[in-house]
Parts: sequence; C-alpha cells; structure tokens
Amino acid sequence: MKKTIDEHAARFDSHAADYDDDHGPEYRACADLVIEHATAGPEDVVLDLGTGTGEIALALAPHAKRVIGRDISEGMLEQARRKASAEGIENVEFGPGTFREPNVSPEGPVDVAVSNFAMHHLADDEKRTAIETIAGLGSRRFVLGDVMFFGSPDPDEPFYSPEVDDPATVGTLADALTSAGFSITAVERVHEQVGVLVAERATDEAA
Ligand SMILES: C[S@@+](CC[C@H](N)C(=O)[O-])C[C@H]1O[C@@H](n2cnc3c(N)ncnc32)[C@H](O)[C@@H]1O
Repeated sequence: MKKTIDEHAARFDSHAADYDDDHGPEYRACADLVIEHATAGPEDVVLDLGTGTGEIALALAPHAKRVIGRDISEGMLEQARRKASAEGIENVEFGPGTFREPNVSPEGPVDVAVSNFAMHHLADDEKRTAIETIAGLGSRRFVLGDVMFFGSPDPDEPFYSPEVDDPATVGTLADALTSAGFSITAVERVHEQVGVLVAERATDEAA
C-alpha cells in the first residue's frame, strides 16, 4: 500500500461530498457489471468491501436479504447512510471495516462478496491476503471490479494515480483467486486498465 489506511481514509473523507459527481464511463460500466454479476437473491447476505458511498450496496439491497457495506472512510460511509435513508432502504448496514478485517462476524456467513474500484489501493500481497479473507467468510461468489491491467499499461494514460494506487495485473488477481479456492467464471474487460473478475467456489451444500 502506497499510503497508510489513515491516509487513504482522510483522502476519501475530503472527497466524500462530491464523490458521486465524479465518475467516468469506465467506472459506470464496471459498477454495472459488478451489480449484474453479483446476482444476489432474496436469501443472500452480501458484503461490499470498500463500499464508499454505497453505489453497489444500495443497488443490490432490493434483491438481497441483507447487505453489509464496509469502508475505512467515515465520510464516505456517512454519504452511504444518507442515501440509504433517502431511498428508504432498510436492509443495508454501513460501518467501518477493512479488506483484512471486514468486521462482519459473528452475524453469520456471507453468501456473495463484491468490491468495486477499491482493492487497487492495496499492494499485491495485501490483495492476496484480502482475497483469502473473503474466501474464509464462506462467500460462494466474489465479484471484483477494479483497475487491473490486461496488458502493459500505457504510461502516458494511467487510469489510476501512481502515487496512491497500486493496481495488479489480471493474471496476479486470477492467481490469488484460484489459490484461495475460487474458480474464475467470467472476465469482463471494460478498458485495458479496468475490468471485472467473477470468482465462484463450491458451497458446502453443493460440494
Ligand atoms: C474509489 S472508492 C470506490 C467506492 C465504491 N466501491 C464505488 O464503487 O463507488 C474506493 C473506496 O475504498 C475505500 N478503501 C480504501 N482502502 C480500503 C481498505 N483497505 N479497506 C476498506 N476500504 C478501503 C476508500 O475509503 C473508498 O471509499
């Protein structure tokens, strides 16, 4: 991680009020694919890591049993709670948590985990630990939308801020996911530096 958790949190706190006004088409496409691939149903508990202002969590809540949004920025979480309240969405809970410590137990297993445009803040070894943590929560599906490299990124057109972000290659992410027991069931390339990976694992019932 190129910045500490506190530094990232402070950065997002300061942008929280206008974060939702600042999205390009690649972000929108990525978010829509994460929502589509999550395919959360009425019995599913969904965990959204790096939930921010709740874009993904709030879109999934009407389809899921319960949605848990976790983030390190209280400013972003406050915006998410405000939107949930304004939209009358009651089965979503936003609170503090990190990729390493999502702060979800002991309320029961997570069925579907999602994360959009957040994991690229972690170094590759930290992404690997985060993916192992997500697998350990029992989630049968993990949908990861993020900045990720499908080839060699054009240094003149970085889709990220090199001083704060640390994106991985698709190969590194796929390796971490399969090492944690997931199978990759879909790869969506939105841009040469943005994509969505869908990872699934056999549940105890299905195994
Ligand atoms: C670019 S925003 C994306 C927010 C949201 N997922 C979306 O799609 O709009 C990245 C979010 O990740 C959060 N974040 C960064 N590092 C994190 C970590 N280690 N654990 C949890 N959240 C983190 C930030 O606070 C921020 O809200």
